[in-house]
Amino acid sequence: MPLRVRLTLWYGTALALILIIFSTVLYFVTARSLRDAVDESLEETAAAAVRSLEERGFLPLVNEDELMSQFPELARIDKFFQIFSPSGTITIRSPNVKQHEMPLSPKALEVALAGRTLLEFAKYPKEPPLRLISVPIIFRGSLLYIIQVGTSMDSVEATLNRLLLVLLVSVPIALAVSLAGGWFMAGRALRPVDAITLAAQRIAGGDLTQRLTVPASADEIGRLTKTFNGMIDRLETSFRQIRQFSSDASHELRTPLTVMKGETELALRRPRATDDYKIVLESNLEEIDRMTRIVDELLFLSRTDMGEVKMERQPVPLDSLIEDLHRQASLLGHERDIQVVLRATAPAAVLGDELRLRELFLNLLDNAVKYSHPGGTVEIALTIEHTQAQVTVTDRGIGIAQEDQSRIFDRFYRTDNARTHTKKGTGLGLAICAWIVESHGGQLKVQSKVGEGSSFTVKLPLAPAAAKRPLTPS
Ligand SMILES: Nc1ncnc2c1ncn2[C@@H]1O[C@H](COP(=O)(O)OP(=O)(O)O)[C@@H](O)[C@H]1O
Ligand SMILES: [Mg+2]
Repeated sequence: MPLRVRLTLWYGTALALILIIFSTVLYFVTARSLRDAVDESLEETAAAAVRSLEERGFLPLVNEDELMSQFPELARIDKFFQIFSPSGTITIRSPNVKQHEMPLSPKALEVALAGRTLLEFAKYPKEPPLRLISVPIIFRGSLLYIIQVGTSMDSVEATLNRLLLVLLVSVPIALAVSLAGGWFMAGRALRPVDAITLAAQRIAGGDLTQRLTVPASADEIGRLTKTFNGMIDRLETSFRQIRQFSSDASHELRTPLTVMKGETELALRRPRATDDYKIVLESNLEEIDRMTRIVDELLFLSRTDMGEVKMERQPVPLDSLIEDLHRQASLLGHERDIQVVLRATAPAAVLGDELRLRELFLNLLDNAVKYSHPGGTVEIALTIEHTQAQVTVTDRGIGIAQEDQSRIFDRFYRTDNARTHTKKGTGLGLAICAWIVESHGGQLKVQSKVGEGSSFTVKLPLAPAAAKRPLTPS
């Protein structure tokens, strides 16, 4: 069942219940208070009659004319009068009781004999009921007579019937009007949901450029729309990244294959000396190594994506790790006449995976050496800033343009500058570095200027025990 129908039905049922309860209560409260008003007026009239009789010393009335002159206020059309003897027979009655005999009911007589007043209904066919009050007049302990005042419930009945009619007509009309209103409102409220469904269908059809128009209101629909658009933004970005990544990966793997194919075809064109074959095979081996590196790094990254790479969490003494890496990088730099200098170290331990941290700093040092000019200097420094260990690798090499600095951490991204500077490199190193730093809860930042050099800074939280560790001379 559509939501709109369900909402309207719920709403309608609730409203119908409320209206029915309300009308019922209204009807009965009104009936009750109208009857109470009648009773009160009867009681007042009877009390006035008793008072007058009292003033006359309870002398019995002789006829109706005497009665009328005694109680002129009782001669009103809406009330009538009867006076009964203690045996219950009528002695006098007011002239407006003409229709039929109205003897005293046995109940009224019984109650009067007991000295109490009785209010009762008297019903005659095809007539509105009568309301009667019977008051005993007791003088010196004996019942003199019984005064009965009565009135027709005619106007009360008529009022109640009119009320009933009004309710019977207006409740269904009110219900119908508000159901129609509810149906309209539900339709209005749900219209954006239809729009979202349509857009979602188009998006599911492959069009990720689709966005929903965000309504001005900050209500549920507005939030849903914003969330939905945000989700599509992220989907679009990651789809684009995946597409870019696949094309980059194929491209990076294709280049060495093209080189190998070309060289091999050239070598096979005519018979050659053994040394020439050796040269080709060695060159091919280099390309194979390169491809192996790319595939290994890709595999590693895809395992990190799937959360399959486990990280140790052991205290790692960064100072000795950096000293060790400094020696290793010095050898790397030696080949290209680049000096690697250890500027500063401080005793620092971080919680993490020593092998991965080694890989992180070696990648940064390898880049620094690789993108330096021969005769240049690479500096490495380990300092402590508040609760963090900070490792900086600085070079005076080719540098990175401002607009490239955010992209060098993307997979396969290499600046044109870097590509012309060296053929070595896969463009995956910094992506791996970023992942290692992130999974150690640290930050990796770059500062660089084209032609002046670059500085990569790694910040890692210190192991909690590091502060207490005594400084041991190494
Ligand atoms: N020290 C550096 N100096 C200049 N450019 C750098 C440096 N380190 C990284 N880059 C740039 O970032 C890119 C990505 O680095 P990386 O992922 O390590 O790839 P690779 O080292 O294989 O080129 C490099 O291709 C280069 O353009
Ligand atoms: Mg690298």
